[in-house]
Amino acid sequence: MSMLALVTGASSGIGFRLAEGLAARGYDVIGVGTSERVEGLPERLPGARVIPVRADLTTPEGIDQVWATVEAEGRPLDVAALNAGASLGGAFLDTDLEDELHLLDLNVVSQVRLAKRVVRQMADRRSGRILITSSLSATTPTPYESIYGPTRAFMYSFAQGLREEMREYGVSVTALLPGATATEFHDRAGMQATKFGDNSWKNDPALVASRGLEGMFEGRDHVVGGDAGTRRAALVNKLLPEERKARRFARGAKPTR
Ligand SMILES: NC(=O)c1ccc[n+]([C@@H]2O[C@H](COP(=O)([O-])OP(=O)(O)OC[C@H]3O[C@@H](n4cnc5c(N)ncnc54)[C@H](OP(=O)(O)O)[C@@H]3O)[C@@H](O)[C@H]2O)c1
Repeated sequence: MSMLALVTGASSGIGFRLAEGLAARGYDVIGVGTSERVEGLPERLPGARVIPVRADLTTPEGIDQVWATVEAEGRPLDVAALNAGASLGGAFLDTDLEDELHLLDLNVVSQVRLAKRVVRQMADRRSGRILITSSLSATTPTPYESIYGPTRAFMYSFAQGLREEMREYGVSVTALLPGATATEFHDRAGMQATKFGDNSWKNDPALVASRGLEGMFEGRDHVVGGDAGTRRAALVNKLLPEERKARRFARGAKPTR
């Protein structure tokens, strides 16, 4: 029987490429997203067994629906890629509080809810690999995306802590820190009038996903997703003071109109 992987946010961007990479390695893939596109995953990944789940992870029912699909397989997960996420651009003074609370639900609360199920199943079986998509934004203040960066910092720290706890159960946890990546992400975040509105200079999501999968299969604690410039930026972020990083980030993320 093939091995089983769960990928959240599989309907587009980095998550689709993670699903594609796992399918190419022979995994059966449970792919999660909210849009109709998720239903088309089996056609987009021919030759693989793909089980689409259209579910909103910000609701407990959505998490239940995903988990019911995992349990219906009658075998444990070998890989879980907790990847679904979003951002929200704009000045904190102007952005809508409800939108921000929803972002926290998606980027933090839903990840914790799903991780609870995943780690318990993997610990019982004493094997498994977890890939948690964080961001390079976890390593810098993110003015004009003021809630997003902290959600990714949460996931980075969560992944590192969980990794240590899960070591004795033979389960590895890897954080993926993509740099800016050419997906629908910044458009959905309403950041068209910023440097991030232009996808032409960003990383290829296929490259980001392949770095994530390589890092996960090597059992690394984290991996930077992107090209040489992105990896250099990750190193520089370790050295620069927070205030300087904040000013630099604001230059890219502040809307120009
Ligand atoms: N793009 C970047 O520059 C960048 C950089 C660093 C980190 N990241 C991280 O990478 C991850 C993936 O982002 P991406 O760039 O691939 O963005 P994307 O193209 O916008 O994809 C986001 C995915 O998340 C799914 N999703 C959104 N809300 C959901 C919900 N409530 N329930 C279930 N699924 C939901 C979407 O599904 P539907 O479309 O079907 O709704 C979609 O498949 C995120 O965690 C993000 O923080 C991205």
